[in-house]
Amino acid sequence: MFVRPAEPTDEKLLWAMLYEASYARENGIDSPDHLRGTPKLAHYVEGWGAAGDLGVVGGFDGVPLGAAWLRLFGPDDPAYGYVDADTPELAIGVAPEGRGTGLGTALMSALHDTAREKYDAISLSVRLENPARRLYQRLGYVDVPGSGQVNLAGTASVTMVLRLR
Ligand SMILES: CC(C)(COP(=O)(O)OP(=O)(O)OC[C@H]1O[C@@H](n2cnc3c(N)ncnc32)[C@H](O)[C@@H]1OP(=O)(O)O)[C@@H](O)C(=O)NCCC(=O)NCCS
Repeated sequence: MFVRPAEPTDEKLLWAMLYEASYARENGIDSPDHLRGTPKLAHYVEGWGAAGDLGVVGGFDGVPLGAAWLRLFGPDDPAYGYVDADTPELAIGVAPEGRGTGLGTALMSALHDTAREKYDAISLSVRLENPARRLYQRLGYVDVPGSGQVNLAGTASVTMVLRLR
């Protein structure tokens, strides 16, 4: 397994991993390219490598299969797990063939280590039914009280936060 910092040239991979992270296939979006037309998702990746962006890429045998990354959002363009303008939000996706191998854990641990130098905390948004919640809890993320919300499709999500320092 390898984990390395995400470079600006990794934007294409991040679109593919955003596709996994956002359950876009299940929501009827048929390719990562079509995420670009969904602003509430596209802003997690668009223009990757901007100031404040931080990410890691990982995989096996030199083949990237996952990524975890952070981006700051403002009150005028909040992402799903927005807490405040100083707290970056995490997105993570691992390709189906790489799941359950420890890659997600390794990506998050590496990202936390780098992020600690720069940020006090990290937030994320996750569906209540997503097994990824167990991973986040194991790594120290806690629910933000009162952050639960139900979208039009009836899916419940919650915002979680990890304090880094
Ligand atoms: C969540 C995800 C990044 C974890 O990566 P991974 O390499 O499978 O993670 P690890 O092998 O290090 O850890 C396994 C943990 O991931 C979670 N997990 C396992 N399969 C999962 C799946 N299909 N979907 C979501 N989470 C999963 C569980 O918490 C599991 O822990 P458990 O074995 O105690 O239940 C990856 O499964 C994934 O991309 N899932 C689909 C997209 C997604 O849900 N992204 C997060 C949106 S908030």
